[in-house]
Amino acid sequence: MGRYRLHVNGERREVDLPAQTPLLWALREQLGLLGPKYGCGVGACGACTSLVDGQAARPCVTPVEEVRGKRVTTIEGLSEDGDHPVQRAWLELGVPQCGYCQAGQIMSTVALLAANPDPDDAEIDAALRDNVCRCGTYTRVRAAVRRAAE
Ligand code: FES
Repeated sequence: MGRYRLHVNGERREVDLPAQTPLLWALREQLGLLGPKYGCGVGACGACTSLVDGQAARPCVTPVEEVRGKRVTTIEGLSEDGDHPVQRAWLELGVPQCGYCQAGQIMSTVALLAANPDPDDAEIDAALRDNVCRCGTYTRVRAAVRRAAE
């Protein structure tokens, strides 16, 4: 076991976990942040996508010890009341169906727009290619990315 001081959503938090424990477990089980979802557990579906130092990351395959000294942002840390521009675009266009993958879709979009504020469709598709949606909301996701970029 190890005690790790993390910087999550603007706050210093402490977790007590074996070093190789995935960050997703620290977020969900120890810090109560349930926005990042468990889907595949192997970094393939994007349901857990969160930001590490502003970059899209997969907490299910990121050992907790790797994020010491880095800024971790989950969807809970995007805004106080869901009014981040990307969240607003998602609501305005009614993107979610079941909703399970949507936090990951939103966090990947936040990372995309931070790096590229005016992406074209090919760039949107490339950035979100590994965020899987079983409901097939891809068309609405793309439209919401465009809306958020306006
Ligand atoms: Fe992390 Fe699928 S649960 S990528």
